[in-house]
Amino acid sequence: MNDSAPERRRLAARLAQNGVLTSPWLCSAVEAVPRELFLHPGVFLDEGSTWRPVTAADTDPAEWLKTAYRYDTLTTQLDGHLTADQASDPVQGVPTSSSTAPATVVGMIESLGLQAGHRVLEIGTGTGYSAALMCHCLGADNVTTVEVDPDVAQRADAALERAGFWTWTVTGDGLLGCPRNAPYDRVIATCAVRRIPHTWVRQTKPGGIILSTLGSWPYGTGLAKVTVDDNGNAEGRIIGRSSFMQARAQAVVPVAGDLSARTAYTDSERGTRVPPTMLDDWMPAFLAQLAVPRAQLVRAARSDGTKLLYLFDPERESFAQFTADGDSWTVRQGGPVALWDDIEEALVAWQHAGSPDVDTVQLRVTPGSHTYWIDGNPSLCWEHRLA
Ligand SMILES: C[S@@+](CC[C@H](N)C(=O)[O-])C[C@H]1O[C@@H](n2cnc3c(N)ncnc32)[C@H](O)[C@@H]1O
Repeated sequence: MNDSAPERRRLAARLAQNGVLTSPWLCSAVEAVPRELFLHPGVFLDEGSTWRPVTAADTDPAEWLKTAYRYDTLTTQLDGHLTADQASDPVQGVPTSSSTAPATVVGMIESLGLQAGHRVLEIGTGTGYSAALMCHCLGADNVTTVEVDPDVAQRADAALERAGFWTWTVTGDGLLGCPRNAPYDRVIATCAVRRIPHTWVRQTKPGGIILSTLGSWPYGTGLAKVTVDDNGNAEGRIIGRSSFMQARAQAVVPVAGDLSARTAYTDSERGTRVPPTMLDDWMPAFLAQLAVPRAQLVRAARSDGTKLLYLFDPERESFAQFTADGDSWTVRQGGPVALWDDIEEALVAWQHAGSPDVDTVQLRVTPGSHTYWIDGNPSLCWEHRLA
């Protein structure tokens, strides 16, 4: 195998140049940990509507290193089972495991403010590359990483060993944390969750930090950084945009079937105050998830090509359907919750507040609730209680 030291140094330099990599100890980790070891047996490269399998075994070694050190996320599993060695042609599928873009994982690890001796819990081992970076910084004994997919966990464990790290790779549902090695100084999730499980708070020392992507849409999600207090609560804010595959137990089941049948009976119909196309943008999409946490935005098309836009909350049997007439929009709503009323109220209040970005959102996590707010705006406050 080719020596990847030059690629590792180039990756570290690029991350530093882009302002992502600032700590010398993390720089040493990026320069030391070979990303290619974690991509066995191969990756799927995004070709738009299909994924092209590329394996180490079938690729020229220099070309393979180029692939391994791409600045992008490298998908390693599709649809919860398919790996690149099992496909010979481009395939369709949904990514279910990956080596996240180095800028994202390195940026997240920097945000943790790691110090020597810290004990870290990672949720979503994936390839094991991010765990390896933390093992390099803290020592393998101080890193516990949990992966829900047994095959993925096994591959990550083998890769970590190949890289020289005998760390705790646990197969299980990371939403439960890993009590065996608790308490932790830091918890980092490299999958997205709808809300921070309270088990993570309970397994973190007072003063410890939890970092996780919050939300259930494929975009419009935020990176939450909260600090645990002495009373078993945690408080902090959204520190930026972040996009990760959803934790498997919380993955959204797409609304399927005959959408016209699901929207046949309407309780109200009116013009909208703001266009639903606002939800194409990140922060409005984030606010929509705060206003109606279980709603899904669904796009479809009639057989004649007419585009259709809906919001559905399957659990509460509610929907909103939008139709455009030039620049104006009509919303039909049905079910016990007027989904668009709640979202629209948030969007209008947000516009009145000067359209602040996602990093103005603060949150507090207690055993029974998540509360989100933007300072100085009483109408931009949402409390999500556990049912
Ligand atoms: C984006 S990948 C992780 C990236 C990884 N840390 C890296 O860069 O090498 C997300 C991983 O989270 C895992 N995952 C999803 N839900 C999980 C859960 N409830 N508990 C633990 N792992 C989970 C997926 O199987 C997937 O491997």
